[in-house]
Amino acid sequence: MVTDVQIEQAAALLRTSRRPCVLTGAGVSKESGIPTFRDALEGLWAQYDPSELATPTAFERNPKLVWDFYEMRRERVRPAQPNPGHLALATLEKRYGALPIITQNVDDLHERAGSTQIIHLHGLIARDRCSRNCQGDPTLIDVDALGWDRSAGPPVCPHCGALIRPDVVWFGEILPEKALSDAIAVIETTDLMLVIGTSGVVHPAARMPLEAKRHGAKLIEINPFRSELTPHMDAWLEGASGAIMPRLLAALEQA
Ligand code: OAD
Repeated sequence: MVTDVQIEQAAALLRTSRRPCVLTGAGVSKESGIPTFRDALEGLWAQYDPSELATPTAFERNPKLVWDFYEMRRERVRPAQPNPGHLALATLEKRYGALPIITQNVDDLHERAGSTQIIHLHGLIARDRCSRNCQGDPTLIDVDALGWDRSAGPPVCPHCGALIRPDVVWFGEILPEKALSDAIAVIETTDLMLVIGTSGVVHPAARMPLEAKRHGAKLIEINPFRSELTPHMDAWLEGASGAIMPRLLAALEQA
């Protein structure tokens, strides 16, 4: 349980920050009803095998299985609403004038909460692209405009005939170049990073707080459980982001 003293200590770090930034993972969206990946019982990877569903080889082997998995996840994301954690980050952006959010999440709940500087390291689940990126990287395709049998798996690219796939990053793939360079620019100049709802096991995102620290930034983690990154933190606020972020914001605004 986080005490008011711990919240105040983290707020004090935030008060001295001039260029804060945020790294988020699946935990920030959990209170919006979107499951995380590594929760022991409800996590997606506790129920499904990522090597069969989230790799380029899996898509080549069984495109319909992979497509249907992402359709199922889209069904969870579509009705989800930003929670108090997302909303507090949007308010924090207004307070500082700028608050880049580097996110591993493929939902758009930060945008919908009102944050404006989102760097999507792992793509966006609502978008689709040509699997060959035949018209450039990324060749985005509006699948709703295509007439195809939705029960038959992914449609084909209207330009080149290759299969269409979700515009997300799979295991074994490199991150989108622009997202990665934008993230590095943030990491090299920030003086404080809020690390919210990530287990800190998937690279390169997991290295980013350590890189920020190497450049002199303070680190504050918000997570109900210890993560791989907890030992490197200046402050760990043990709890759900939807509960902790509004408390942190209130403490910040009191001074
Ligand atoms: P994980 O599922 O690995 O970790 C979620 C983290 O959120 C855990 O540390 C939880 O303790 C924490 N958590 C749970 N509920 C929370 C809450 N209400 N508030 C704050 N934290 C909470 O998710 P990620 O670290 O995001 O990659 O996973 C990283 C990547 O692995 C994902 O982007 C995805 C996955 O494979 C790709 O799909 C490429």
